[in-house]
Amino acid sequence: MTNEKFTVSSFMESKKKGRKISMLTAYDYTTAKLLDTAGVDSLLVGDSLGMVVLGYENTLQVTLDDMVHHCRAVARGAKRSLIIGDMPFLSYHVSAEESVRNAGRLVQEGGVHAVKLEGGREILKHVKAILDAKIPVVGHLGLTPQSVNMMGGFKVQGKSEEQARAIIEDALMLQEAGVFAIVLECVPAKLARLISERLSIPTIGIGAGSDCDGQVLVMHDMAGMYSDMVPKFAKRYAQVGEQIEEAAKMYIQEVQEKLFPEEKHTFKIDEETLSKLY
Ligand code: KIV
Repeated sequence: MTNEKFTVSSFMESKKKGRKISMLTAYDYTTAKLLDTAGVDSLLVGDSLGMVVLGYENTLQVTLDDMVHHCRAVARGAKRSLIIGDMPFLSYHVSAEESVRNAGRLVQEGGVHAVKLEGGREILKHVKAILDAKIPVVGHLGLTPQSVNMMGGFKVQGKSEEQARAIIEDALMLQEAGVFAIVLECVPAKLARLISERLSIPTIGIGAGSDCDGQVLVMHDMAGMYSDMVPKFAKRYAQVGEQIEEAAKMYIQEVQEKLFPEEKHTFKIDEETLSKLY
């Protein structure tokens, strides 16, 4: 790992060199700092924060203000990683002008380097307007969680010929529009491979097999901290949730048994001052 900043150009260079890109979600300062120090290439302030941080059933209730708030915290914690902020539901659907303003808030107030939008041909106008404002854009195809109600649930996409063709075409259109990477979520691995081969920009897979040019996971899934929904594709690299629970149980017990705090955790006052208070 180098200390050199990972930039939009680094995404393209990585694809050319066949070097896989690592991306994880982050939503707060402390986690961003840990992941950045570990050497992750890119931090995604995903609207998945609606589920794993705010406890909503899906991502639809996440607002632009929520995103700005969390992006700002992540930006303070990361030095090397490229920070991407998700544009939340309805923040890039009304008009191109509003989309640019909203993307601009994530950059100006949130401190992100790029924004991510879900969808293909239907949002091209908005993608182009944001790019015209010189804000780098990442696409997101396949399972697009903001369309959960249209899709009838969190389901694998692109299994039929028609769906698969539509995803390929959308990927090519987004590339043509100028996005610098595309997240492929929950699509068959062989379709993701075909798309990755056809595109000159990198694909970042989540539930899309190992032939994508990079991978992204939700941090809470990767670290084993979120159990409300455990997707098949989410490998747990740690059991941080269990560790926190264990630590909390020990703490409760020590408080009840007066084992905590110990002498070393306390502050002193000199006896003379104290005697004056009685
Ligand atoms: O919101 C998010 O975390 C995402 C990833 C799942 C790619 O969009």
